Amino acid sequence: MLPRGPIGVFDSGFGGLSVLKELQRALPAADFLYLGDNARAPYGTRSFDTVYTYTLQAVRWLFDHDCPLVIIACNTASAKALRSIQQRDLPHIAPERRVLGVIRPTAEAVGQLSSSGVVGLLGTPGTVASGSYDIEVAKLHPGFRVVAEAAPMWVPIVEQGFAASDGADWFVAEAVDRLLARDPDIDTIILGCTHYPLLYHKIRAAVPESINLVCQGHIVAASLLDYLQRHRDIDAAISRGGNTLYCTTDDAEAFAARASVFLDRHIEARTISLQ
Ligand code: DGL
Repeated sequence: MLPRGPIGVFDSGFGGLSVLKELQRALPAADFLYLGDNARAPYGTRSFDTVYTYTLQAVRWLFDHDCPLVIIACNTASAKALRSIQQRDLPHIAPERRVLGVIRPTAEAVGQLSSSGVVGLLGTPGTVASGSYDIEVAKLHPGFRVVAEAAPMWVPIVEQGFAASDGADWFVAEAVDRLLARDPDIDTIILGCTHYPLLYHKIRAAVPESINLVCQGHIVAASLLDYLQRHRDIDAAISRGGNTLYCTTDDAEAFAARASVFLDRHIEARTISLQ
């Protein structure tokens, strides 16, 4: 039976907050349960099996806490675990519930944004190596191609609290320059990791103004609104008290302090354990 409960939002750490923020804006009455696996972040350099195991643990935990719907607000987990969870696990553990990712809606959106058809992608090593964006974009927009580079230091910079530091500038410029050197026709860059909007101002400053920078939060939110229009049973199962509960697998106070800065309001968090 479909329980009544919050929308689960999962990420390896803080990155999913960039998606949550837009989801809260789009669905102000809905309840949310955010889970950041900060103790085991980053996921971007981990194997397929490890990311799948961790993500499935998180999805099960969110299901145990009555979420009828889980948004995997992490590209790495969407690339490496979503399909297996949807096709292999969901039919056994909770056939009536849904798990959605962030890659498909983002790939859909770039069709409107790029004129040259050459789309840059910055993501974690795992997302880039999976080729998920190349596959989705080519499927949805024939003639488009994706030029991808990994930015392996960006997630650790965010997770360790250095997003506003001067040192971060060097790492931002290094990855942006490496990507742009690959193809002069890139006119749109997907920030294909939900942590990257936490570095947005630095990235925007490093990317020429003529190039579109695509953050995923509002795209995922618009796609969810559309999904809920088409799936009234899931929509009806979302509890509506306008509350969000923040959970982390690491230190709750440290999480709350950093999340409050990003969300621009005071939040409290609690520590949970996944296995
Ligand atoms: N926010 C995750 C993503 O979108 C970061 C992954 C990581 O932990 O490396 O890919």
